[in-house]
Amino acid sequence: MVKPEKLEIFSSTNFVLQVPSSSGTGYLRVLTPSDVSGAYVQGMNDPEVTMWLDGVKNNVQTYEVIVEYVLQNLNDACSVLLGFYLNETLRGTVRLHELDRKERSVTIGIALFDRTLWGLGFGCRLIEAVSAAGFETGLIDRIYAGIDERNLASQRTFEKAGFTATELNAYDYKYGRALKFKKEI
Ligand SMILES: CC(C)(COP(=O)(O)OP(=O)(O)OC[C@H]1O[C@@H](n2cnc3c(N)ncnc32)[C@H](O)[C@@H]1OP(=O)(O)O)[C@@H](O)C(=O)NCCC(=O)NCCS
Repeated sequence: MVKPEKLEIFSSTNFVLQVPSSSGTGYLRVLTPSDVSGAYVQGMNDPEVTMWLDGVKNNVQTYEVIVEYVLQNLNDACSVLLGFYLNETLRGTVRLHELDRKERSVTIGIALFDRTLWGLGFGCRLIEAVSAAGFETGLIDRIYAGIDERNLASQRTFEKAGFTATELNAYDYKYGRALKFKKEI
């Protein structure tokens, strides 16, 4: 069950965020276990998709593991996991997490697991749409993204969506170094 204090506008499983697309109807909505598809499981085991998703690539992503992840996000008051549907097929996810009500910030992550969509502007539009909706909650003034310094595609995509690199090498972690990107109202 979704806790009441969750990021308000996302808290309803009926919430739908339209995503502009010339190649069909695109929208984001909160994922529930019944959304977990074979393509989602396959994508989360695709080395090209998970190259920079360290938590994902170091564990085999079975159907059960992903359902558990969806449930964890549903039950976490500080996270929301949205699925990107294009023409009624789940193509990727955008996640807001680590909501900090005191600092009025949240962190965003994205994985377009349908690689046929890469380079068509969806990543940028999804980040823009979720950022705008996040700000509309009135709960946050800034959104962070931690991006591996070697993940140039993601860095460029976040820059295009209005984020700027604020702290170079802000995160030293066991797999490498990540840059901290930020977008503010
Ligand atoms: C990163 C990701 C979200 C980008 O999505 P996308 O839909 O391909 O990105 P867009 O089409 O919106 O591209 C936005 C900008 O980034 C650039 N870009 C995209 N892929 C690129 C690449 N591989 N190398 C260089 N630039 C790239 C685009 O050219 C565009 O800039 P431009 O308009 O100046 O040309 C997608 O590749 C993905 O999900 N990757 C796997 C998971 C991942 O790495 N997530 C991020 C973790 S921090």
